[in-house]
Amino acid sequence: MSLPEHFFWGGATAANQCEGGYREGGRGIANIDLLPVGEDRFAIASGKMKRLQFDDGHFYPAQDAVDFYHHYKEDIALFAEMGFTVFRMSVSWTRIFPNGDEDQPNEEGLSFYEKVFRECRRYGIEPLVTISHFDCPIGLVQKYGGWKNRRMISFYEKLAVTLFTRFRELVTYWITFNEINMIHHLPFCAAGICFEEGENESQVIADAAHYELVASALATKRGHEINPQNKIGCMLAAGPYYPESCRPEDYWQAVCDDRDGYSLIDVQVRGNYPSYLLKKYEREGIHIPFAEGDQELLREYTVDFVSFSYYNSRVSSADSSKKDTTEGNVFPTLRNPYLKESEWGWPIDPLGLRITLNVLYDRYQKPLFIVENGFGANDIPDENGYIQDDYRIDYLRNHIREMIKAVEEDGVELWGYTSWGCIDLISNGTGEIQKRYGFIYVDRDNKGEGSLKRSKKKSFYWYQRVIASNGKELD
Ligand code: BG6
Repeated sequence: MSLPEHFFWGGATAANQCEGGYREGGRGIANIDLLPVGEDRFAIASGKMKRLQFDDGHFYPAQDAVDFYHHYKEDIALFAEMGFTVFRMSVSWTRIFPNGDEDQPNEEGLSFYEKVFRECRRYGIEPLVTISHFDCPIGLVQKYGGWKNRRMISFYEKLAVTLFTRFRELVTYWITFNEINMIHHLPFCAAGICFEEGENESQVIADAAHYELVASALATKRGHEINPQNKIGCMLAAGPYYPESCRPEDYWQAVCDDRDGYSLIDVQVRGNYPSYLLKKYEREGIHIPFAEGDQELLREYTVDFVSFSYYNSRVSSADSSKKDTTEGNVFPTLRNPYLKESEWGWPIDPLGLRITLNVLYDRYQKPLFIVENGFGANDIPDENGYIQDDYRIDYLRNHIREMIKAVEEDGVELWGYTSWGCIDLISNGTGEIQKRYGFIYVDRDNKGEGSLKRSKKKSFYWYQRVIASNGKELD
């Protein structure tokens, strides 16, 4: 088995899930800071419950997270020890523009990221930067309603241009929005949207999605102007839908469910709204808020690569009364009797990754980048404090094997693989840290207690061998 020599190996994080330091360096508050652990979390993330400030009754885990803000040197040194050649991370918008609509950026925020990128470069690690990973300044939510408002495009453009300019020599791989399709399921998390009583929610989401698409195209344009070497990608929460049976109606349902995922990146990759989405909007009476110049921007500034997260596949049935569901990334799915599930109920399906790679490559013929894949588990240290996470190694090994087949046997063009949560971090779905993904254990619990000490798990040494052998040594 062999992967291209320059194949990128590494790990992925997001600012709000690992950085902490939420009040330091002049940082402002973001939507994502306001997601507590517990019952309200999903209601807030989906825009059904409004929470625009902290309260005493809840624990907000993003405030301190795993304190990458103060530990970044130690953490990047550990990534380098594993042999990373790429590190995917995101910037916190409110470190750079604390309210979102300032004229000038906050120098302290920029200089923090400059130090992080320089530290990566010192070890030969390529930063892959997500401009917005579920991140929207609360100032913009309060004043403008978040991405409901077209004015967000110019605030985002300013953020992107600031980053492209300041980090011209340090960063060339960029992702405009994390999992853009999640706007359909987590509107507050993905776009700072809180629904008002009586609002047409589908229209609000279609508006916000359109503004994000235009902002993404504009960032692609500006990014290429500022540095023609920049590679700018879109990002999809991926995972195929399998029909529950070979009944044509079930297959058709799977096609439709898959399209719900692809519809926005179809625009980012192909430059126009797919006909099936236009027809759906027409049926539902939804209007796309096109303004002069939008169509040209979308058409001319398509992305350079397609990145995606893959955790699990899903099952579709035409019979909506079926209730045997299990969890999956963000929203549940019908249970697949052929697959085992993680402790959190997410189906484990390595072949689904090969399928995803092939389907995306067939559909777009663009280079792909796997920027999230991993296994959330409750790691229990043994009597010596060591984590023997063979379950994580198994999951990753089986997925990487399928990834290599997609490249070698199917000819998919794949730039790299970054495993999610390479260091333990806060779960986006539940807010727990005990849903751990890392090769590096962080001593912290769900209540925010612990020394934050980092230690290497068994998977750390395993991944080190995988990288050193460019995927040849997987056992
Ligand atoms: C992706 C997100 O949806 O899944 C990450 O981009 C998230 O932010 C990851 O952490 C895993 O999900 P969870 O809920 O286990 O944290």
